[in-house]
Amino acid sequence: MINKIAVLTSGGDAPGMNAAIRAVTKSARKAGVEVYGIKRGYKGLVSEDPSMIIEMTPEVTVDIIHRGGTILKTARCLEFKDPDVRLKAAEKLKKLGIEGVVVIGGDGSFTGAKLLSDIGVNTIGIPGTIDNDLAYTDYTIGFDTALNTVIDAMSKLRDTSSSHERVSVIEVMGRNCGDIALYAGIAGGAEIVIIPEVEYDIKQIASLIMQRRDECGKNHSMVIVAEGVKKTDEICKGIQIITDFDTRVTVLGHIQRGGRPSAQDSLLASRMGVYATELLLNGKTSRAVGIRGHELIDVDITEALSVARDFNKSLYNITNKLAF
Ligand code: ADP
Ligand code: F6P
Repeated sequence: MINKIAVLTSGGDAPGMNAAIRAVTKSARKAGVEVYGIKRGYKGLVSEDPSMIIEMTPEVTVDIIHRGGTILKTARCLEFKDPDVRLKAAEKLKKLGIEGVVVIGGDGSFTGAKLLSDIGVNTIGIPGTIDNDLAYTDYTIGFDTALNTVIDAMSKLRDTSSSHERVSVIEVMGRNCGDIALYAGIAGGAEIVIIPEVEYDIKQIASLIMQRRDECGKNHSMVIVAEGVKKTDEICKGIQIITDFDTRVTVLGHIQRGGRPSAQDSLLASRMGVYATELLLNGKTSRAVGIRGHELIDVDITEALSVARDFNKSLYNITNKLAF
């Protein structure tokens, strides 16, 4: 019987993390288990400061389901790669009587969770990152909200690029993963989508833009570029030189990480939070929660991290069909 567990958020924040914290806390408390929140991810876990670990009493999770960010704060903690530091963290949890930890974060955070489980701390991972770069799960918490933010920005940028008859080049986040660009590009009606998973040809892109002008009289276009391509300015200049269109780059940046979670993210986070708690209370460890189709799944963290990331080719093919 498990009596005390903890929850932490780690790595980049993502909308929906609070909903997951709430779901872990409420469902564990309902099962008669005490819940603690570890602040600043692994940094709070290794810190000597006692205020970094707080009891998740019911009032802590009041009115947080709709809030972006994470009430537990998040951080990157490089010291956690040191085995001695992790041992100290495990000892500290043992002293506090905390028998398991739910880690909400991306692949780096999952690696930390797996290593903690290797030294006797039961851990369950919940995928929280806007990047959608964990291949074992169809979706990560925060991805859908980030898509909605990007689509909202695209519609504003379309207004001004239409007025000025410009080409708008929009850079979106995703680290090395092109999913934000791909999904938002289609849903937001971008003419061109450039992602790190597929090579691009600037001449071909420019000729599509000119073809649009010549055949449909459309004097503005939207090009969405994933940050992982690392060539946004070069792409923008290339288009301007070849097409003679005036171009502007907008780097959307961290606005993609904030905001009220979408219904889809709040729902996913709530479901995953309850599921992760059940796993932990049933004595499971080193499991990553995910979703495939409509079903929640759990897989070994090592296995989850070893699934090779493959982008959605059929979705990418749609971008070509919709380029006009
Ligand atoms: P994300 O979880 O979003 O991928 P990071 O890659 O920055 O974000 O990882 C978050 C944190 O997870 C790191 O700051 C570190 O504390 C921990 N972590 C990452 N990689 C490792 C590792 N190899 N060993 C132990 N801990 C790690
Ligand atoms: O992993 C989430 C993410 O927002 C990536 O899309 C981006 O590359 C990175 O984090 C930015 O990190 P930071 O917030 O440290 O600038």
